[in-house]
Amino acid sequence: MTAVLPLKQSSSPVPSPSPSPSTPSFQPSAGLPLETIDWTRPVSELLRTGTKRAHEDVEHSPGAARLAKGELSKEEYARWCVALWCVYDALETALSEQSYNHVLSPTFHPALLSRASPLSSDISSLLSSPAWQSHPAASSLLSSPPTPLQAYVGRLTQLAQEQPERLLAHAYVRYLGDLSGGQIIRRRLAKQLSLSSLSASSGAKEDDAPTPGLTFFEFPRLDGQGRADTQEMRKIKDWFRRGMDEGVGEDEELKQQLVDEANEAFRLNAGLFGMLDEPWDSPTEEEPPEEVYSPLAKPKSSGAAESEASQGQGFPLTSFIAFLVAVGLAHFLLVTMGFTGQRGWEKFELVQGWVKGKLEL
Ligand code: HEM
Repeated sequence: MTAVLPLKQSSSPVPSPSPSPSTPSFQPSAGLPLETIDWTRPVSELLRTGTKRAHEDVEHSPGAARLAKGELSKEEYARWCVALWCVYDALETALSEQSYNHVLSPTFHPALLSRASPLSSDISSLLSSPAWQSHPAASSLLSSPPTPLQAYVGRLTQLAQEQPERLLAHAYVRYLGDLSGGQIIRRRLAKQLSLSSLSASSGAKEDDAPTPGLTFFEFPRLDGQGRADTQEMRKIKDWFRRGMDEGVGEDEELKQQLVDEANEAFRLNAGLFGMLDEPWDSPTEEEPPEEVYSPLAKPKSSGAAESEASQGQGFPLTSFIAFLVAVGLAHFLLVTMGFTGQRGWEKFELVQGWVKGKLEL
């Protein structure tokens, strides 16, 4: 998978996680001093215990909770997939370029693991747009990626050039996450977004039928025959753990670096989830600006003036016309019918009342 990364390259490199790799910043479990860690243990075990706290932090973050509870709209979820696509595109391009690296090669299996391609078809399906990169919901994110996304992609790009072995930690955090908690999220999303598998229309078995919009969560079986169920996913995770242990071997310095980098990967994912803290829908139509009276302002059309008048603001045009008619009529009565004696007074009162009534319109 060699899609061109659409993100702007950050001009300043993303700083390495601090402190330095030789003094990991993670705290494997509450109260456990770093010197008690047995670095002879397999890296898969060290990664699980060494990122326990970081996993809990990201799992309980508000953004992850919104995703896990299925609170995202279809478009919000599509935009989330676009952000993930950028991450996987960077990761998988780098892994592919480094496929002969002896640390990375035992877990390099794009046909089994690659996520950028299913994400791309999910986004097309969710946005009903084959050319999703030019859809407004995606293009805004691609043309000006939010800071957490830039940081994540920047880190992956930097590692690809400077320390490719550390990419193993990123592959671990993403792929094992997708094969674990990702499956819980999948079920919620399917319900919330009313996405169902193609089994009904195609006649395929439920397990083999993909769900358009959610193929990101679907993995093939290890033998390539059909779709993995939960049990098969456990086997894929075990295969990945064995591959990591084989690639890293007994290199204790590398183990420390990988645990440190995996914690950094969790932090970057927490940053990405931060983008989901608030509803993420496209901006609605702008509120009209508050009107400030200005003598230089253009006059409104008569239609606008009338509708404004009907809401009780300004002087109604119809009242003004009625006033002119009333004055004209009064003038006619006075001039032609006289204005003297009792009859004259009655006429005057009649006209006065009529005019008053019109002015109160
Ligand atoms: C949304 C909430 C999440 C839930 C409910 C959740 C749940 C779980 C569960 C139940 C497991 C254990 C699976 C097993 O032992 O087979 C697991 C493992 C894992 N999760 Fe999560 N997770 C969540 C979010 C995440 C996120 C955001 C990431 C990273 C991006 C992540 C990365 C991992 C990894 C790497 C493992 C494998 C740990 C190991 O066995 O070494 N999880 N998760």
